[in-house]
Amino acid sequence: MKVLIVGSGGREHAIAWKVAKSPKVDKIYCAPGNAGIASVAECVDIKAMEFDKLVAFAKEKQIDLTVVGMDDPLVGGIVDAFEKEGLRVFGPRKNAAILEGSKAFSKDLMKKYDIPTAAYENFNDAEAALKYLETANMPIVLKADGLALGKGVLICNTREEAIAGVKEIMTDKKFGDAGNKMVIEEFMTGREVSVLSFVDGKTIKIMTSAQDHKRAKDGDQGLNTGGMGTFSPSPFYTKEVDEFCKKYIYQKTVDAMREEGREFKGIIFFGLMLTKNGPRVLEYNARFGDPETQVVLPRMKNDIVEVFEACIDGTLDKIDLQFEDNAAVCVCLASDGYPVSYEKGFEIKGLDSFKDKDSYFCFHAGTALKDGKIVTNGGRVLGITAVGADLKEARKNAYEATKWVDFDNKYMRNDIGKAIDEA
Ligand code: AMP
Ligand code: GLY
Repeated sequence: MKVLIVGSGGREHAIAWKVAKSPKVDKIYCAPGNAGIASVAECVDIKAMEFDKLVAFAKEKQIDLTVVGMDDPLVGGIVDAFEKEGLRVFGPRKNAAILEGSKAFSKDLMKKYDIPTAAYENFNDAEAALKYLETANMPIVLKADGLALGKGVLICNTREEAIAGVKEIMTDKKFGDAGNKMVIEEFMTGREVSVLSFVDGKTIKIMTSAQDHKRAKDGDQGLNTGGMGTFSPSPFYTKEVDEFCKKYIYQKTVDAMREEGREFKGIIFFGLMLTKNGPRVLEYNARFGDPETQVVLPRMKNDIVEVFEACIDGTLDKIDLQFEDNAAVCVCLASDGYPVSYEKGFEIKGLDSFKDKDSYFCFHAGTALKDGKIVTNGGRVLGITAVGADLKEARKNAYEATKWVDFDNKYMRNDIGKAIDEA
């Protein structure tokens, strides 16, 4: 089989690495890919939003399966564009990717189908939102409706901050058209868990749990980022939590989408908060998480290509999804200054240390090849991942491996997985 992967981050590197393990696969392409992905796939210089070019490429190379990693192309309808030409593609169609593409849609869906989430109101104009804030309890959470690179959520402690936030999102359009609508919702507290799942339109199979670290600095300080590190499984995702979510959240979401005529095939990523009143949905994503994928896929036993195909064919009920009884930790090495401003183009040294090591992985997020050398090419540069018998061992291994590589302005959080000690 020939497989095309669309995307260029650490998530896509982990997907490409896992696809490469499938005995069914002879050749992998990745568009546009990065310098690390180039070790398992042939990178093609086509951007993720260039649907026409991607479709033409898939036809020319007779690609058997395309896998889309990123949110933008999914929400923009890449799956529809491929299907229209009779090409096999893994991911939700545009009318289903709205589950991530519009927070107002997903909140309304949860309300209509009684799926536990924070209380909220949707707003189409700033005036109504500001009026609502006059009597709302603080802290409060403001969310731009559309995709905003994970930055469209503002947690406001005071009414003044909330007023300023509404203006940023709706009046000043800080997140562009993503702020044409907004959600204002109740502030919840509790531990966060990420749960990824495969969905074939009717059946849902849950992968193992993970926890992200979204803030830039130790102690969950600093700005929100794409994610500075992850661990899997989450010790807080207990059997009781799993049972609750299976009963009230997972299948209900899949059924709700079908009921709405928006059959969902692909990955649903459930961002959950474990509140004292039980698990609540913080958000849905219509794709693998980054860097959750980097700790989930190394633990997955199945041939991922078989699972992708079962999702497309509606036969996921036949798949026995299995994970190793171990743990994994990913520490992101970033460029100092991320997520605001940072320099690129520094040589990365020590990458060979990961060769031929089964339980250590160096997933590339933002790297490029320049004059025969691998250089930094993004805010998040590498996702150093290690597996271990348990979380503590995996964390020790991952931090050990962060020392093997070096580049100018290398920055990381030193407390990824600290919560493990509190479990
Ligand atoms: P989201 O993009 O919706 O996952 O939001 C990004 C982050 O904002 C989440 O990971 C949470 O840490 C935080 N957040 C979102 N919604 C709420 C909420 N209702 N209460 C508290 N924190 C929230
Ligand atoms: N790590 C969070 C996300 O992928 O959205």
